[in-house]
Amino acid sequence: MTRISVALAAAGLMGATLAQAGEVEVLHWWTSGGEAKAAAELKAMMQAKGHTWKDFAVAGGGGDAAMTVLKSRVVSGNPPAAAQIKGPSIQEWAREGALANMDAVANANKWDDLLPPVIASGLKYEGHYVAAPVNVHRVNWLWANPEAFKKAGAKVPTTWDEFFVAAEALKKAGVIPVAHGGQNWQDFTTFESVALGVGGADFYKKALVQLDPGSLKSATMEKVLTTFKKVKGYTDANAPGRDWNLATAMVIKGDAGMQLMGDWAKGEFLAAGKVPGKDFVCVAAPGTAKSYTYNVDSFALFRVKGADNQKAQQDFAQAIMSPEFQEVFNLNKGSIPVRLNMNLAKFDSCAKTSATDFVASSKGGSLVPSIAHGMAVPSATEGAIKDVVSQFWNDDKLTATVVMDRLVAAVKSSK
Ligand code: BGC
Repeated sequence: MTRISVALAAAGLMGATLAQAGEVEVLHWWTSGGEAKAAAELKAMMQAKGHTWKDFAVAGGGGDAAMTVLKSRVVSGNPPAAAQIKGPSIQEWAREGALANMDAVANANKWDDLLPPVIASGLKYEGHYVAAPVNVHRVNWLWANPEAFKKAGAKVPTTWDEFFVAAEALKKAGVIPVAHGGQNWQDFTTFESVALGVGGADFYKKALVQLDPGSLKSATMEKVLTTFKKVKGYTDANAPGRDWNLATAMVIKGDAGMQLMGDWAKGEFLAAGKVPGKDFVCVAAPGTAKSYTYNVDSFALFRVKGADNQKAQQDFAQAIMSPEFQEVFNLNKGSIPVRLNMNLAKFDSCAKTSATDFVASSKGGSLVPSIAHGMAVPSATEGAIKDVVSQFWNDDKLTATVVMDRLVAAVKSSK
């Protein structure tokens, strides 16, 4: 026996400690450099509590592959304790009766007071907490390499007109203007930033959140689609199928000038030792400085068997909402804490801008959920409209008019 265990045994505590040690199996898709560093913090925190961490990582940005694997595990009656699930999908799983009630943890730790109400309500099913949130990612960002811009004599754009001027200059300077990965969630990540920048927050909400047919087929949507397609002309021939973090690496190296991506991209810059404002620049995607597309990573807690594992699951939920975890995880992940009133002293200027803009856009009615990242519409509808948008991106013969009809039809048939 070690000296500590002798002392614990003497105090009659060893049995209690061991009885509470359980296993927590966690499904996530955080496998890129920055993501893995952030996930490692979560693992360390659970291990420090004496629990066993069973890593269930399924690679694939945006999480489509992870969701497919999750379905088969739940259907076979063997769900993980926690799975990275967001937005309306939380409600879909709760309706199936698959999720555990986390009210005891949430009430003891005052989650209702610590979370913005719009976010808390998405984590509850019929008034009970079934999921715990880790962060707020902003999706409508543009990442730029200042050296590449200098070489091209270009200015980091704040409007779509400026974006295409900069793209031309970068091209002339022999730099790939836009780093893109041709996967449908990445196509849609670009598309929703274009929709927000060209159409504005009210159009975005009407067309892509409320799915109003008159907005899905409109002069504004036509302008959005043609602007989106024009971006493709500034991507390289190897874009199809490329992972998002490899696209970010192109900007890090200066092979490409810019990338439209959520702030998990910042996690890659930081993991590569790059300094914001010096080695890379973050600005809101063109035309979206006053708006904010949010994407909250959260873990849904599945019903698990055994008191030890249930305790481990509750400790997991409690840990991720703790101020210590919210700070260290988000410093690595590129996002900001979802917990309110946190001290952001250790965070960089991109994170501080994100926090300020989150509050301002929430007050101004321009805080919108990301469709590409599962925050806005049921998963079937999301899949259907993502497919249409990617068809348009990939098929140069498709016209905006045909695509608008397909969007309306996809929404209708997915309901
Ligand atoms: C998730 C992020 C993740 C990104 C790329 C998004 O949907 O919210 O946490 O880093 O996908 O994998």
